[in-house]
Amino acid sequence: MHINPYLFILPRTPGQIVWNYKDHVQYELDLDYASRLTKLIANPNLFDSRNIIDIQLLEAGILTITKIDSPPWGWDELSKIYHIGTQNIPCEHPPQNIQEWSRQYLSHCDEVLSKPAPGKERSLMTSAQRIALPAPRALNGDNLDDALRQRKTCRSYTGEAITLEDVATLLYLSLGYLHEREHDDSVANGLHARRSSPSGGGLNACEGFVLAQNLRGLEPGIYAYHPDEHSLELINPLPELPLGHVLGGQHFINNLPFGLFITARFDKLWWKYEHSRAYRMAFVEAGHLSQTFQLVATALGLGTWLTGAFADDQIEKLLKIAGSPEQPLFFVGCGASDGRAMCQEMQDLLQESPT
Ligand SMILES: Cc1cc2nc3c(=O)[nH]c(=O)nc-3n(C[C@H](O)[C@H](O)[C@H](O)COP(=O)(O)O)c2cc1C
Repeated sequence: MHINPYLFILPRTPGQIVWNYKDHVQYELDLDYASRLTKLIANPNLFDSRNIIDIQLLEAGILTITKIDSPPWGWDELSKIYHIGTQNIPCEHPPQNIQEWSRQYLSHCDEVLSKPAPGKERSLMTSAQRIALPAPRALNGDNLDDALRQRKTCRSYTGEAITLEDVATLLYLSLGYLHEREHDDSVANGLHARRSSPSGGGLNACEGFVLAQNLRGLEPGIYAYHPDEHSLELINPLPELPLGHVLGGQHFINNLPFGLFITARFDKLWWKYEHSRAYRMAFVEAGHLSQTFQLVATALGLGTWLTGAFADDQIEKLLKIAGSPEQPLFFVGCGASDGRAMCQEMQDLLQESPT
């Protein structure tokens, strides 16, 4: 008999909460159950099939007949619990199509709005007491200025193909190791691989996998981007189910021509940073890359969309990184769009609704 490795135990007088953070289930144990579990943790071979508590602990998955291996993890248990505990969030009724998604999302928003919003003000000063700033000036060269002002999240795409040249531009400027920065003498040896975005410890722990749904000059599929060579490597064909099924049921993006899964190589961060605070940096780095991608896409005249809502285990399989220390963190995509923030189905629903 074995103890499930994905458990943590919280003291909650008069009992204990046993939390299976991988399967997202919790059990409250009274003193008898908690005492028995303590004995079984000390020696799992004490398991007795005539003991009702032992049987119940087994049925609850707290004990397991076969040994469960947990993946490698280089930081403390706390960050591991958080990381695994926030993966593969169960959804009772995943929306199967865009109409279902729209209805579910609208009812979720109604529920949220029925509760009072958090207060807006965190300042003790009135507007009149604050220091008014001068109007912002235009940046040198219009591109960045325009991209910053025009970037927006679009949820309506035409499905039109993107050229390979645009894809190359997007990948090089957001993820590529810039040739233009190779000969910077101010950088320490071994840290010359520089991107347009900053990278925690200069490790470039984040990587990108391309979702090619409709690119002119490239077969549909999943590709790994090699930032040093500025090249693509085919990893898998496209998933059989439409994209929305793997991206939190958000079916309005099914015809998005191009996307990028941003992953983090935790092993690179473990190598340099022992403390799990570095875990936060992986997400911050992914955020930088995502914003850069969106600004380049906007400058190319494309609409952008982003999400962190996806079924982690399915994405890991799709990218062929399951069981490795590389984890998917975020998705960002782009394509020709009419620029609408709401998909047609959501607009139709809003027009139907009485309020
Ligand atoms: C971390 C993060 C996660 C997001 N996730 C989603 C998402 O799952 N689906 C979606 O449609 N938009 C998502 N968005 C987009 C936001 O809804 C959007 O940025 C926000 O409404 C402001 O609109 P704007 O981007 O057009 O300025 C996300 C944005 C961020 C920064």
